[in-house]
Amino acid sequence: MLKDKNILIGVTGGIACYKVCEIISILKREGANVDVIMTKNATEFITPLTIETLSKNKVVVDMFGEKDYVEVEHISLAQKADLTLVVPATANIIGKVANGIADDMLSTTIMATPKPVVFAPAMNNEMYNNPIVQDNIQKLRRYGYEFVEPVVGNLACGYQGVGKLAKKEIIIEFVKRLLEEEK
Ligand SMILES: Cc1cc2nc3c(=O)[nH]c(=O)nc-3n(C[C@H](O)[C@H](O)[C@H](O)COP(=O)(O)O)c2cc1C
Repeated sequence: MLKDKNILIGVTGGIACYKVCEIISILKREGANVDVIMTKNATEFITPLTIETLSKNKVVVDMFGEKDYVEVEHISLAQKADLTLVVPATANIIGKVANGIADDMLSTTIMATPKPVVFAPAMNNEMYNNPIVQDNIQKLRRYGYEFVEPVVGNLACGYQGVGKLAKKEIIIEFVKRLLEEEK
């Protein structure tokens, strides 16, 4: 079902970063081509080396990292993607996209894609319940961005509440359903 689909994964700087590894492996196993953009902060949590090995593609972090500009990478990645999945999605990336900020490779590419964008947020429950974060989510939903909602659970910060990344199976099913609907 994912055969020949181009899925762009955006990885942002949250403690749930390590969970993206399994998601990438499953998508690859199911036949998708997976490109990955990591924010600079995400690379504090997991290395591009791990992601490159799993995705079998070069990971992009820097907006100005390329030495030759034969291709404008944020545009080519944005055009190539059948769907963009931001996992885990920080409060920061949600806030930036909701407010039209394009100050790094990921936020700029999201701005440039005409295809569906799915956010899978993960954060501390107080952060998730912050009315600013909730307003940003509602605003993005109004613009047609999709969300796989986080669940209630034990959070890495020691708190209990809503903010735990949705299960990988739920995220992948969501992606598949959206791609099917797009067809
Ligand atoms: C140990 C640690 C864990 C963090 N976990 C999260 C998290 O789960 N969710 C979140 O929104 N921010 C989290 N942050 C804060 C983000 O890293 C911070 O807001 C950063 O600016 C996000 O940048 P990015 O969205 O460009 O990756 C964490 C920070 C640290 C130091």
